[in-house]
Amino acid sequence: KKIRLKVPATVANLVCGFDILGMAIHEPYDEMELRLLETPEIIIKHTDNFRLPEEPSKNVAGVVLLKIQEELNLKTGFEVIIHKKIKPGSGLGSSAASAAGAAFGANELLGNILTKEELVYFAMFGEELASGVKHADNIAPCIFGGITLVKSSNPVDIIPLNSPDLFVTAVHPQVEVKTSDARQILKKNILLKDAIEQWGNIAGLVAGIQKNDFGLVGRSLNDVIVEPIRSILIPKFNEIKEKSLELGALGGGISGSGPSIFMLSEKEEISHKIAEMMKSVYDEINIESFVYVSKIN
Ligand code: HSE
Repeated sequence: KKIRLKVPATVANLVCGFDILGMAIHEPYDEMELRLLETPEIIIKHTDNFRLPEEPSKNVAGVVLLKIQEELNLKTGFEVIIHKKIKPGSGLGSSAASAAGAAFGANELLGNILTKEELVYFAMFGEELASGVKHADNIAPCIFGGITLVKSSNPVDIIPLNSPDLFVTAVHPQVEVKTSDARQILKKNILLKDAIEQWGNIAGLVAGIQKNDFGLVGRSLNDVIVEPIRSILIPKFNEIKEKSLELGALGGGISGSGPSIFMLSEKEEISHKIAEMMKSVYDEINIESFVYVSKIN
């Protein structure tokens, strides 16, 4: 038995919803092939040049499959071939795609015995390996599609939200930002006044998404807790954000833990103008960048 999957990139946090909001997008995506093995081994292969580890216990997809095997007492194994196109370390959910794809694919091969929440539960072991923390904000949209709210990750409680008809422009500048580092620099305590502003934004964003009120979405895409600290790691972050808003973006910010930056817009034309601007800002300072124009998946 064999299955071939397309696994989407994801934008976690959606600016204000650190670790709880995320969305799946059309581009880029990974392709994964999974095959059931009669022996209990896990075999991981990559066809790309990212040099990711292939030893199952060190591979994001591998640890997910090991956990599924262990908890379900399986006598069978899996072979996984990963064609990775979502660049590792981009902040576009590359590790989540491998983890979610492994869980989803294994479940299909086993005859659909797990719920989507259980797939999220297993896939989070991959995120733990990649970043040190079991966060589900990339995995949940990867598995459920569209925009999701992680109401709780333990126990797993995922709320799928509306998928507004918006364009997403994302730029990935070639600078290294490790998720683990980008988490470590965050403050462990926050002021009540900042928390109030933040949960106002999160509630506004969720309401705007559900009501297709794009004005409200735009006004709510503000982060007073994480972005001010993390944006220091991303060259030209403020310039790109300001110029995107001038060009007509609804709003946007850091994608996941960065270094990618994403912007939402209502019109396709605007999303392409933003893409050109992003590219030229990085060209000017000789930083190679990859730009994606996409929709919410
Ligand atoms: N919510 C996570 C973070 C996403 O911002 O650290 C990491 O991809």
